[in-house]
Amino acid sequence: MPADVVVGMQWGDEGKGKVVDFLAEGYHAVVRYGGGSNAGHTVYLSRELADRVGKESLVFHLLPSGVLYEGKSNVLADGMVVDPEVLAKEIGGLKEKGLLNGNLHVSDRIQLTLPHYYAIEEEDERVLGIGTTRQAIGPTYTFLANRSGIRFCDLSDEASLRERLGQNIKMSKRLLPKDYQIDVDAVVRRLMESYEAIAPYVTDTTFLIHQWLKQGRDVLFEGAQGTHLDVMYGTYPHVTSSHPTVGGISVGAGIPPTWIRTVSGVVKAYPTRVGRGTLPTKMEPELANRIREKGQEYGATTGRPRDIGWPDYVALRYAKRINGVDQLVVTRLDILDMIDPIKAATSYRLNGRVIDEIKEPFPASENQLAKCKPVYEELPGWEEETFGVREYGKLPDNARRFIERMEEELDLPVKIISTGPRRYETIVR
Ligand code: IMP
Repeated sequence: MPADVVVGMQWGDEGKGKVVDFLAEGYHAVVRYGGGSNAGHTVYLSRELADRVGKESLVFHLLPSGVLYEGKSNVLADGMVVDPEVLAKEIGGLKEKGLLNGNLHVSDRIQLTLPHYYAIEEEDERVLGIGTTRQAIGPTYTFLANRSGIRFCDLSDEASLRERLGQNIKMSKRLLPKDYQIDVDAVVRRLMESYEAIAPYVTDTTFLIHQWLKQGRDVLFEGAQGTHLDVMYGTYPHVTSSHPTVGGISVGAGIPPTWIRTVSGVVKAYPTRVGRGTLPTKMEPELANRIREKGQEYGATTGRPRDIGWPDYVALRYAKRINGVDQLVVTRLDILDMIDPIKAATSYRLNGRVIDEIKEPFPASENQLAKCKPVYEELPGWEEETFGVREYGKLPDNARRFIERMEEELDLPVKIISTGPRRYETIVR
């Protein structure tokens, strides 16, 4: 079946939004299958659109990047979690600018973020200190799993919505401060107001996706966050609450796993991480600051500075294994211009053991990961600008060597290289 996947191989923020925006042209539909407004990606507009709206770029939190394309279908699938107010605002903002060009479909099974979940997350964070994006992602998935959540399909019948909300509020009170008041009428009103803007798009999206795939139409699945933030396979507990890995597609979009055709793993030339948690190859602060400023490595949702690391083949091999990656996309190569030498971790040492994801697997315990000492090789840097380069042959020799080294280490071809934020600042090999 013509189902392709774009998945992040690090801790999110790999530049998947730009990659999906670039690839979307060749697809009938783009589908997001997990996470919610914790994601944030900046999409640079074509000159024509930029002139029309007086803005160079837009940040999306929920909508797939394909919404800017005339005639493309865009799906918010079942595995996502959505605050209806945030979605209504995102849809309204695009409509106002005349940019909602594609067709939008929102799953009726999506789990909704209710206003009091944000207060629950504050309580949770006081105990856990994960450093979440404060979008109440954790509580929304908690209410999905404890079976007292509210979904879009519950909003079409106010009487049964009120009944379910009653149960939800009883469950919620166990997690909220004692004096926290919930005004049921206000919750219903807010939900219904936002739903008005969303209802025309709500449908059984599994039905649509199955139809498209059976008709042979190409569908692109866009993973939010990254492999190492997966609630099962990431650096638990400092992870998100969904499955950004390829396994998340089957559950999150309702398609059989055997339908997936190719998996493209997106690798930023240097890994970054935001929030608390271990980044095994974290760089020395001075160089990290330089890269952070040049690459504007600040959270798209929270504005927090991201930790910056050296390329890490061990963490990438793990992501390759868990996702069954077929090919790589390397992003932000230009940000490494003028960095010399470039270090890259080929293995970790832990109490005399060699962890390389070839003989010994990447550790499950973040505690152990924090104790791992990366073993680096040094690659020569390049003293030329690669920003905006569009042909592989025009890259400096050492930049090509950097790419080819990654191919050797991961035993995968690098098919696309991004050298800038705009669609055309891309090399296809
Ligand atoms: P949550 O997803 O808001 O619950 O946050 C859990 C962890 O995942 C925190 O460390 C966040 O910083 C991180 N996280 C969530 N979404 C993203 C993302 O889109 N990019 C990078 N980190 C993210």
